[in-house]
Amino acid sequence: MHNRVLVTGGAGYIGSHTTVELINAGYEVIVVDNLSNSDRGALEGVRQITGVEPKFIEADCCDRDAMRRVFEEYEFDSVIHFAAYKAVGESVAEPAKYYRNNILSFVTILELMCEFGRKNILFSSSATVYGDADVLPVTELTPRKPATSPYGNTKQMAEDILRDMVAANEHLSGIALRYFNPIGAHPSALIGELPRGVPNNLVPYITQTAAGIRECLSIFGDDYDTPDGSCLRDYIDVVDLAKAHVVAIQRLVDGRNKHRYEIFNVGTGRPVSVFELVRGFEEANSLKLNYKVAPRRAGDVMAVWADTRLANEELGWRAERELYDTLRAAWEWEKHLRQ
Ligand code: NAD
Ligand code: WQD
Repeated sequence: MHNRVLVTGGAGYIGSHTTVELINAGYEVIVVDNLSNSDRGALEGVRQITGVEPKFIEADCCDRDAMRRVFEEYEFDSVIHFAAYKAVGESVAEPAKYYRNNILSFVTILELMCEFGRKNILFSSSATVYGDADVLPVTELTPRKPATSPYGNTKQMAEDILRDMVAANEHLSGIALRYFNPIGAHPSALIGELPRGVPNNLVPYITQTAAGIRECLSIFGDDYDTPDGSCLRDYIDVVDLAKAHVVAIQRLVDGRNKHRYEIFNVGTGRPVSVFELVRGFEEANSLKLNYKVAPRRAGDVMAVWADTRLANEELGWRAERELYDTLRAAWEWEKHLRQ
């Protein structure tokens, strides 16, 4: 089935937005998720946006028997593997939890793909694999630095596992998409990010501060060697990111990939500072945010942003959404959550 895709972690933040874009592009989507960091509301949101209810199987990708049943029951050529844990700090405190979930789930999926002769795999990698890069912006050929967290290590290891599995199985093709900093929400405000507890990431912290749930945003460091002293990142709208998955899957389905294992950066190519992002949020939503400058956060790199030429040229994809629109969508989603 060329137009059927198994989406693991499809009830999550990026997975739900990608499911919407896949359905909009004419794909039939089967979602597998164990709801460890999401709930069924995301799939209801997908239904409301697209008018289509994706098939949903509540299962753990590490559960080989459960996943085997999915492979036995459904014909599909392509898999997008989002299912993973993603909290960097938690991964430092509980590394085994991260190695078990992120690595075992992926190996299980890859083994079953080989056993059942399924062809195309898209993997969620991360800009975290670049670490503190020597040259900016980073290209796909920029050497990876040793990972600074178990989470980051799972992404490096998973990329290598994918490379080796593809090399050893000639019917298998894979793409690793290295996401930069995904932010925002669907413009409908029907799906978005669901941070549990105190958010680690900047934009959820901003929206929760604006909503009065957090008292004050701390800006981690204003003494970096950057134009305004705060860190630089490449913030990619989650809908743009979702669309990158659709073109990457289509490339594999059409056999247009140049190599059986490929890597693409998915970012805007534009560095944005923390101060710029805060100001952008205030202007886009006509509000004032309570913030203060705080010490640097351990483990933060000063700056990282993407060279996106490979994705632009090979995938025919580029980020389109304006940062203001993204920050407006982030706020609309936060308000929707509080209704
Ligand atoms: P998310 O937590 O919202 O989504 C992950 C989904 O996978 C959740 O619905 C969770 O319930 C599910 N899941 C986790 N382990 C599972 C398992 N063993 N079996 C079945 N389901 C499982 O996270 P997200 O932000 O949508 O991230 C998706 C992917 O992208 C992850 O692999 C993440 O590491 C990667 N990524 C995220 C970011 C980011 O900043 N959000 C950046 C780079 C890469
Ligand atoms: C962005 C900037 C902070 C919170 C993380 C993961 C990375 C990837 C994306 C998965 C930094 C500053 C933040 C706050 C702040 N995820 N900040 N106050 O650290 O770039 O990347 O998410 O793969 O692996 O590490 O994202 O949103 O946490 O921080 O000043 O309360 O905002 O210092 O400069 P980060 P982030």
